[in-house]
Amino acid sequence: MRAVRYHDHGGPEQLLVEDIDRPEPGDGEVLVKVHAASVNPVDTYFLEGSYEPGALPWIPGSDVAGVVTAVGDDVTAFDPGDRVFATALGNDHPGTCAEYVVAPTDRVAGLPDRVGFAAGAAVALVGVTAWQSLVARCGMEPGERALIHGGSGGVGHVAVQIARAAGAQVTTTASPEYHDTLRELGADDVIDYAGEDLTATIAAAGAPDVVLDHRLDEYLGLDCEVAAFGGRIAAIGNTDPAATFPNVPGHRGKALTVHHTSVFNTPDVARVLRRLAGLMERGALEPHVAETYDLRSVREAQEAVLDESFLGKLVVEP
Ligand SMILES: NC(=O)c1ccc[n+]([C@@H]2O[C@H](COP(=O)([O-])OP(=O)(O)OC[C@H]3O[C@@H](n4cnc5c(N)ncnc54)[C@H](OP(=O)(O)O)[C@@H]3O)[C@@H](O)[C@H]2O)c1
Repeated sequence: MRAVRYHDHGGPEQLLVEDIDRPEPGDGEVLVKVHAASVNPVDTYFLEGSYEPGALPWIPGSDVAGVVTAVGDDVTAFDPGDRVFATALGNDHPGTCAEYVVAPTDRVAGLPDRVGFAAGAAVALVGVTAWQSLVARCGMEPGERALIHGGSGGVGHVAVQIARAAGAQVTTTASPEYHDTLRELGADDVIDYAGEDLTATIAAAGAPDVVLDHRLDEYLGLDCEVAAFGGRIAAIGNTDPAATFPNVPGHRGKALTVHHTSVFNTPDVARVLRRLAGLMERGALEPHVAETYDLRSVREAQEAVLDESFLGKLVVEP
């Protein structure tokens, strides 16, 4: 099969398209013919070597949507021919930028017939991240207000829709060119993060009970200032160890909590994927695919995911 691989850590120039053996599913695993994969910032962190996935040479990509072509001996939940989507691959298991990928069944769910493969791949990692942050870790309730930083991003635009579907009021931030689309996706208040006095503008929309923060280094102080009493902050991106509560005044008085969330430590990925599938099936969740690439142009996709502004996700179709 053809697969994108890197033999050394570095930039996108390390990515090569190679012919390698097709993998075989082991116990508890399925083999999926990849119809679509997607690109996430974490692929570039693994590629650079900031985090070490499996042994080199390595195949990037966490998300897949496709068709099961073989199952491990003990697998009863899936059969060849099933349409599925999966995520949290490309870390302890080889990734999805290939013609076939093996996935453990606890990271796989059925893809409804009315949902395309590109949408399945686009939603998987970001949808699990947004669900895990807002619903599982922060316990978001109907009628609460959610603040979602970076609503135009892969995570953000799905988080806006999940928060809306859960009955929350949604404040989000993004570049002005995306504001109309974010209102169509269900945001009540859309704010330019580069505008004047961001803290006051967010506060004027209403104190958030739940915050999804992809830049904790930058926004933890703001989050604490605007949050309602008992507010919960989900942190999905944070590099500076100084971005912690002891350095932020006021968190105790409001009884705020912060939850560090990673898609790779989600206990039951398949269960969350099934919830996302249900939302997509009834049209309550629709990921935006900004651009589609083939295996030969995965280098460009990896550059774009870090350097370019776009609404939604970048998808790879082998
Ligand atoms: N913990 C986890 O499991 C997990 C999972 C997924 C992602 N992440 C992390 O979360 C972050 C976002 O991921 P993604 O896939 O959504 O990335 P993405 O699609 O590249 O989105 C980035 C978003 O950041 C916004 N942005 C840029 N500068 C900003 C600023 N100064 N203030 C506020 N927003 C700003 C962009 O807005 P505009 O384009 O509108 O300017 C865009 O909406 C990344 O750091 C990623 O590594 C973590």
